[in-house]
Amino acid sequence: MSRVRVGKVEDLPEGFQSAVEVDGVSVLVVNYEGTYYALRNNCTHKDYPLLGGEVADGRITCEKHGGKFELATGKAKTLPAVKPVRIYKTEVEDGVVYVLPL
Ligand code: FES
Repeated sequence: MSRVRVGKVEDLPEGFQSAVEVDGVSVLVVNYEGTYYALRNNCTHKDYPLLGGEVADGRITCEKHGGKFELATGKAKTLPAVKPVRIYKTEVEDGVVYVLPL
């Protein structure tokens, strides 16, 4: 199983967003209210990256058509997004954040 290093906790503050590659797939990492969430960096409505979307109420908004996904579960919460986005696991070890497949 591949674990991918995102960076040091001090470099990934509240509101931080970045994309890393896990097994050849772009994965978005978000620090929301002090918790790191990771989900596939690809909207399930159309092929569009979620990176840079607005984060509020535990959800990220796709900038293309406004679909919202729950960070913790990947569930689609607002049309036109219907299908969930795949989520990944995050881990913090010795002050470093990692992402790995669930
Ligand atoms: S591409 Fe994301 S909502 Fe349409």
